[in-house]
Amino acid sequence: MDRPTFLMTDPACFDVSYRINPWMDPKGWTPAHAQAAGDGSAALRAGLLAAGAHVETIAAVKGLPDLVFPANAAVVLDGKVLLARFRHPERQGEEPVFRSVFQRLKTRGLVHQIVDLPAGLFHEGAGDAIWDAERRVFWCGYGPRSSQGAIGVIRKTFGQQTVALELATDQFYHLDTCFCPLTGGKVLYYPAAFTPDALATIRARVPESQRIEATAEEAAAFCVNAVNLDAKVIMARAPDSLRTKLRARGYRLVEVDLDPFILSGGASYCMTLRLDRTLVPAAQLHAAE
Ligand code: ARG
Repeated sequence: MDRPTFLMTDPACFDVSYRINPWMDPKGWTPAHAQAAGDGSAALRAGLLAAGAHVETIAAVKGLPDLVFPANAAVVLDGKVLLARFRHPERQGEEPVFRSVFQRLKTRGLVHQIVDLPAGLFHEGAGDAIWDAERRVFWCGYGPRSSQGAIGVIRKTFGQQTVALELATDQFYHLDTCFCPLTGGKVLYYPAAFTPDALATIRARVPESQRIEATAEEAAAFCVNAVNLDAKVIMARAPDSLRTKLRARGYRLVEVDLDPFILSGGASYCMTLRLDRTLVPAAQLHAAE
């Protein structure tokens, strides 16, 4: 894969028909939202393509509305896929679907190895294990959805450092709703989503000059749930305050209307799963110096 490659799901079967996080209100869902979801997903795909990415799209499955959030399907690095196990029965039906998706991707050489999570653990994929390419660590959220015990599995599976961050609220139930590492080492995050210990961990690892704190309004607009490609940050429609903040730091916002997905508690990062992340071998790095 010579380009950033993302998995996305056809949104044809997306709706809000159950409630497994506080943003979801099945009574508020209307057919107009379904139409808007199609448009929003297409606009996100167009934004990724315009940023030079490739998008692999999988088919929708009736009865699995949250299949549109493939970030939760697995943790992927170096062609290795650690399959997710969902906390809520409502999403567990996605597990065999994503397993066969990855098996097909393996046949095509897009991934190389598929690994199962040990029994008794929950883990919701890249939503709770965010690869920080600058620091070479997985930032790992746990609490509302993913088990703390799954973090050691991630460390061993990928042979990479992990940093555990406990999530303090039901609103920000996946790490990707409140934490986004950016090109150049800056980190956009929403402090109130974390326990005091987790916040201290973030601040110990990310110097103040690299921290960009989101406000409650910016976090509730799901703008921290962003896809970053070089200077571009692709996100849901942003409040002016965030536009100003990110532009001042040299980032370019690409905004997409993802309102129907926000009604499900998700936006651009979780509507995608990055498949091509690799570690440049240390030997190669030194050779380039
Ligand atoms: N309705 C979905 C859920 O609650 C939204 C998932 C959003 N995904 C994410 N990685 N934040 O599971």
